[in-house]
Amino acid sequence: MMSPRAAGGAGTESPGAGRDRIVVAIDGPAASGKSSTAHMVATRAGLYHVDSGALYRAATAAQLRIQPDVSRWTDAQLPKAVALVTLVARPTAFRPMIGGADVDLEIRGPDVTRHVSLVAQIPNVRAWVNDQIRALARQHDVVVDGRDIGTVVFPDADLKVFLVADPWERARRRLVERSARRPSEADIAEETDRLVQRDARDATQTVQAKDAILIDTTTLTQDEQVSRIVALVEAARARETERGG
Ligand code: CDP
Ligand code: CDP
Repeated sequence: MMSPRAAGGAGTESPGAGRDRIVVAIDGPAASGKSSTAHMVATRAGLYHVDSGALYRAATAAQLRIQPDVSRWTDAQLPKAVALVTLVARPTAFRPMIGGADVDLEIRGPDVTRHVSLVAQIPNVRAWVNDQIRALARQHDVVVDGRDIGTVVFPDADLKVFLVADPWERARRRLVERSARRPSEADIAEETDRLVQRDARDATQTVQAKDAILIDTTTLTQDEQVSRIVALVEAARARETERGG
């Protein structure tokens, strides 16, 4: 079994240290629209998108490659697993790779989704993810999505948004995203259960910052929420310019 300190080594930086770039934090529960919205905001506002969940997923996928049997996970394996993960720059995003290869499909698969919350509980994994993100934010203007970006990773972010949506609608969207066919009520009910269970496992780290702007996307189109956030980014930039930042 793996103990909480298993990843080892990381976690030395203080939030915001040496940073003078724009940071936008988008947090919220599973399938609330964070990643797709953050990506569109990045494209429209000229920022880099960093998906912190993808980093937790990549660490989990690498660990499962090293040892597919979760009951045989040990403390010694996790530092080796995270060492396989690198972040590669795309035109408007940083994407995790494992051993230099694309892992987009693997990290969204059911095996990783089932185990990612367990790996994300390990403090040294959280410290490793946070260090990666803070290092990028020193070099680039970023929009980072996750659970604790506005509270733990960047408590001094220029803009914080917390996205929520009704669980049934989140489940419906997730299924639509995965398959061209219209999901049945039974499929949506099953997916709602899975999402609600993952929300419960992630509850301690999914915290809305006091100064975050809450957007309920249940009845919004994606374009509406993106436009709203892009307007907020522009306002944050104008404030920064006024302050001479
Ligand atoms: O996209 P989805 O909401 O399904 O999940 P994700 O954003 O890809 O995140 C996958 C998992 O990583 C979550 O279920 C959390 O366990 C963990 N996570 C976290 O603990 N903290 C973050 N800042 C982001 C993700
Ligand atoms: O990152 P997170 O798990 O919060 O959500 P996501 O991976 O962005 O998935 C949300 C899905 O809902 C995507 O397929 C979006 O296109 C869709 N969607 C949305 O995010 N917002 C709307 N108002 C309508 C649909």
